[in-house]
Amino acid sequence: MTSLPGGPRVVRASAMMPELERDLVDRYAAPSLAELDGVVPGVEVAVVGFGNGVTAEVMDRLPDLRAIVNFGVGYDANDVDEARRRGIPIANTPDVLDDCVADVAVGLVIDVMRGLSAADRFVRRGEWAGGSRFPLTRRVTGARVGILGLGRIGLAIARRLEGFDTVISYHSRNRRDDVQYAYATSPIELAASCDVLIVVTPGGPGTQGLVDAPVLTALGPDGFLVNVARGSVVDEDALVAALEDGRIAGAGLDVYAHEPRVPEALTGRDDVVLLPHVASGTVETRRAMADLVLDNVERFLSHGVLLTPVD
Ligand code: DGY
Repeated sequence: MTSLPGGPRVVRASAMMPELERDLVDRYAAPSLAELDGVVPGVEVAVVGFGNGVTAEVMDRLPDLRAIVNFGVGYDANDVDEARRRGIPIANTPDVLDDCVADVAVGLVIDVMRGLSAADRFVRRGEWAGGSRFPLTRRVTGARVGILGLGRIGLAIARRLEGFDTVISYHSRNRRDDVQYAYATSPIELAASCDVLIVVTPGGPGTQGLVDAPVLTALGPDGFLVNVARGSVVDEDALVAALEDGRIAGAGLDVYAHEPRVPEALTGRDDVVLLPHVASGTVETRRAMADLVLDNVERFLSHGVLLTPVD
């Protein structure tokens, strides 16, 4: 294993697994690739995640690289096409984080519709004690929910929100025949028919800017946006403009286009809830993700195949 300042970045075939294990489990996250400069040749498996991926340039510098293991379900920070071209398989950590991400999505729906974080600030600022009234908010029970991307996490969100008697519709690249939810043929059609639009699509070039100004306008002045997917899926400038113009009612965000940078225009607004990309961030889930990373590395080093390869 190659150890760099801040911890190991890259695992070699001769990896000392217990050391990697300790590092991943202690951190509950793959460390960044920022200090890749100086990594010696001989690296065969790269463990990356949380916005850090293996680009073509990194691949050039790691001529012995044979596999990439992505700590996280979203692997869009890696140059997937280039990896495919070079025959380098990628694994991610599916399934184990679905519940925690779905929990946070529902939390954001409730928070932004009911103004919980804003109400908390209102109390702390002494405005309630000073005689002010907190404005009325919107009802979650019975709301129309649109889910953009009905994969495993989208389904986990839908199942939870069924408990709130919500009316669920969705748009995905492919229509599912195993659910009863109404299918919208486009993001704009979905946005026009819901009170809260929840973004759960994968990131990457195929979904870049999918939620753009027309989609936000279709959501309407009483509509809310929740994003637990990738910041790249939402046109952030269009989102800021839609909030400023009152074309949507509010937004709950766990992800941003240029993390950890959050647009300054959002930080002063009471109609947005801002989380620091923590939807999967529980001890239980990060431990399960770390285990899956290690199982993938181990399987690859011992059998030459990954346990949970991406398509
Ligand atoms: C993922 O797994 O892609 C998440 O964004 C990490 O929290």
